[in-house]
Amino acid sequence: MFFKTKVFYSSRLPTRLFQKKNALYLIDTKSNIRLKQKNVFYLAGGEGVKKFSFLENVLKKMLELNIDRKGELVVIGGGSVLDLGGLAASLYLRGIRLTLVPTTLLSMVDATYGGKTAIDTSIHGLLVKNSFGTFYQAHEIWINFNFLKTLPKKERVSGVGELLKTLWIDNQKNAPMKSILAFLNIGSVDRKLAKAICASLKIKERIVAEDLYDKKNKRIILNLGHTVGHILEGLSKRLSHGEAVLWGIAVESLLVPKSIQSKHSFQAIQALGLKAPKELKRSDKEWMRLFYADKKRVKSEVLIPVLKAEKQIIIKKTNIKQLLKTKTLFLKLFCSH
Ligand SMILES: NC(=O)c1ccc[n+]([C@@H]2O[C@H](COP(=O)([O-])OP(=O)(O)OC[C@H]3O[C@@H](n4cnc5c(N)ncnc54)[C@H](O)[C@@H]3O)[C@@H](O)[C@H]2O)c1
Ligand SMILES: [Zn+2]
Repeated sequence: MFFKTKVFYSSRLPTRLFQKKNALYLIDTKSNIRLKQKNVFYLAGGEGVKKFSFLENVLKKMLELNIDRKGELVVIGGGSVLDLGGLAASLYLRGIRLTLVPTTLLSMVDATYGGKTAIDTSIHGLLVKNSFGTFYQAHEIWINFNFLKTLPKKERVSGVGELLKTLWIDNQKNAPMKSILAFLNIGSVDRKLAKAICASLKIKERIVAEDLYDKKNKRIILNLGHTVGHILEGLSKRLSHGEAVLWGIAVESLLVPKSIQSKHSFQAIQALGLKAPKELKRSDKEWMRLFYADKKRVKSEVLIPVLKAEKQIIIKKTNIKQLLKTKTLFLKLFCSH
């Protein structure tokens, strides 16, 4: 089945979106959307909802409501709720219509488009993220920037990290840093930032279209900064995903001398006034443990994409020794004072 996901931008979601009968509304309570009807499943978003128990409850709720094959799941929330909802929609009666309404910046720029759905599990007490999932494209995506007004600072920084990543991949040198800074400080979305968010969705759309099922290694570029990003995230309780990725982009940029990636990321980190996370200084041993836990590792190496110059991506086969050397170099350049 192939169809094109329709993306709509609207500062007021249409009433018809909320009046569907043969449908379930899966809603993150933090989105502040409250509906009067009965076909609603509320949950408090966060990684904790990406679980079998939530999946089962959502699926059962749809059965109770007698939703048939022509029915629909409308998901309103951040990436965690969208991942859970996407999976439920793909499983229910072997797949029903899916509408996504992302309510965080990260989910707008990264989690809505691309068709990846997932829940997590844990084995031996360790969380295995996105361990079970499907590819299932949404039929419609509704983007409304008003949701972003209530986002806490940590989530704003997180979204900005992924937004910048996507813009840089496409060589959009002119990420609107002033607008981004205003968003970080007061949560406002001006025209320039709105344009950048639309652009980033288009970039993701283009990359995904080349490799719908992530089999041709075309999506690897979307992993920019993610090897080190995941290490930092794994070492920290307070660092958001997007911020870890932004620092990851800066560290990994040094795998290739004089890369445009260094220029973009170092300038952005400075412009946004971000403080180097202390996880950068954690021991080699701790970094090594997390490097070996990376799902993308093959034997002792991970493929790391680096933007060398405009329209020039280098895929660096990297082992832990090379990565630790890069970490040391980064600390010397960035954290020596
Ligand atoms: N499917 C994909 O392609 C893809 C891509 C990137 C990330 N993801 C997944 O997305 C998840 C991260 O998404 P996220 O960053 O949106 O996190 P999230 O869904 O955990 O949301 C972060 C927090 O913000 C709250 N929130 C949501 N909307 C809000 C609003 N409008 N105002 C105030 N608070 C609000 C949530 O309740 C939660 O507490 C991860 O599970 C990740 O694996 C999926
Ligand atoms: Zn990411």
